[in-house]
Amino acid sequence: MKFFLDTANVKQIKEAADWGILDGVTTNPSLIAKENAKFEDLIKKICHIVLGPVSVESVSTKAEDIIEESRKLAALADNIVVKIPICLEGLKATKILAQEGIHINTTLIFSSMQALLAAKAGTRYVSPFVGRLDDISHEGMNLVDEIVTIYDNYGMDTEIIVASIRHPLHVVEAAMIGADIATIPFGVIEKLVKHPLTDIGMDKFLSDWKKVKKT
Ligand code: E4P
Repeated sequence: MKFFLDTANVKQIKEAADWGILDGVTTNPSLIAKENAKFEDLIKKICHIVLGPVSVESVSTKAEDIIEESRKLAALADNIVVKIPICLEGLKATKILAQEGIHINTTLIFSSMQALLAAKAGTRYVSPFVGRLDDISHEGMNLVDEIVTIYDNYGMDTEIIVASIRHPLHVVEAAMIGADIATIPFGVIEKLVKHPLTDIGMDKFLSDWKKVKKT
């Protein structure tokens, strides 16, 4: 399972890269807006730190504009993936961009049929937003389950990025279902490593070690 970091914060990206578990990064306009940095400089910096795919979102709404914007975004670095929100204009653009070899991450996925359409148009990734579905009393992880089944049924190789993750259990469930990727906020990755019994065990080993005769 691949772990992407869901942030545009350079400090967090550097730190997670040092932990040796970082496979990629996803950004969106809201995450970029938090950083108070020049857009292109920020993206180039992130793409330099991360070896894997870095998703950057297109904000155009007409197919021809999405195509033009996506080509410019893709030219910023070799590891750019262009995020395109699911819509008919986005599908049109995806088909053309995919044929040009530009990797697309179809975002704002809230139904399995949106995911099926995106895969048929040639997208490389789909991002189902589980947390936002949970927020409106829908079981977000059921959507991931449906997409995994449908893609398996037809041998589709579009990768599923479980997005809008809010807590460690989302990551556990995504892994149990067999999703390809989870894009995770920094604070949630930190929580994944924690266990109170590990802390208690470490304290005990360290205090017992002090009692050992060293010479
Ligand atoms: C994913 O690609 C999105 O950037 C992100 O996961 C959205 O998460 P949110 O619902 O917490 O804003």
